Amino acid sequence: MTDPRVIRAKAELRRALAEQRAAGATVGLVPTMGSLHEGHLSLIRAARERCDTVVMSLFVNPAQFGAGEDFDAYPRDEERDVRLTGEAGADLVYAPAAGDVYPEGFATYVAPEGQLAEVLEGEPTGRGAEHFRGVATVVAKLLNTVTPDTVFFGQKDAQQALLIKRMVADLDFPVEVVVVPTVREADGVAMSSRNRYLSQDERIRAAALWRALEAVQAAARDDVPPDEALGAGRRTLAEAGIEPEYLEARYADDLRPATTFNGRPVLVAVAARVGRARLIDNVVIGAGAPGTR
Ligand code: PAJ
Repeated sequence: MTDPRVIRAKAELRRALAEQRAAGATVGLVPTMGSLHEGHLSLIRAARERCDTVVMSLFVNPAQFGAGEDFDAYPRDEERDVRLTGEAGADLVYAPAAGDVYPEGFATYVAPEGQLAEVLEGEPTGRGAEHFRGVATVVAKLLNTVTPDTVFFGQKDAQQALLIKRMVADLDFPVEVVVVPTVREADGVAMSSRNRYLSQDERIRAAALWRALEAVQAAARDDVPPDEALGAGRRTLAEAGIEPEYLEARYADDLRPATTFNGRPVLVAVAARVGRARLIDNVVIGAGAPGTR
């Protein structure tokens, strides 16, 4: 297995992809911030299955980190990432320098608005609207640079995936968005680059997030109000000494508060700080959606 080619310059990437396209290849893009784990690799494998040429972008995007967040501490290991990317089947790694993505004078952002952007992670007490502005802006730039046929996101960041789908529809990006199920550790903990901030003891406590989501899922019935089912999850978190930032049930398509499980699929989402890691996870309750019972 040869390592994928690493490209830093936009012009070079465009040239390489033009050659592939001229030969009739379809292109898949997997945007990441590196520090790869099985979750990222499952996206690359999904892209490998569906597309002829697979590009993984590797860029720790300063625009989506707030003041006091972990931009400086965010784990970076390009050599390891490139090797793993190749093993999972990517052809190209696009790893631009920050100055090329946001050159001096950069002044144009894509800012998602409304319900999808303002709740859960978008709450001022969560990561705030600035976070999604940073995500949407960098993804818009990546879509314009790579012009993939298909772009892949993880259900782990359910709200991010919804916002990107909205942006793609609203701004007419000619790309298909595919959402891939969350990959978990044996004890249910969703894989995340931030899990490495956890001590051994915190890592054990972190499993309560998934157990809480399972408890909500187990309590969710057509005749049970979502608030009551969420209570089961809150108890599970409390037993592990975890005070969630939020644990909420919202309709999975528009993120409005869910008033019943007896209808559209419901996203149950949780965020909590465990030690110095801020962790998020979710499950979708109802037919046909990723991560469904
Ligand atoms: P990052 O956190 O590196 O995640 C890259 C992609 O991997 C996202 O689509 C995310 O949802 C997915 N992912 C992360 N953990 C996963 C898991 N356990 N199972 C399945 N998929 C998982 O998300 C970002 O980067 C950035 O916001 C980005 C989209 C790259 C824009 O900067």
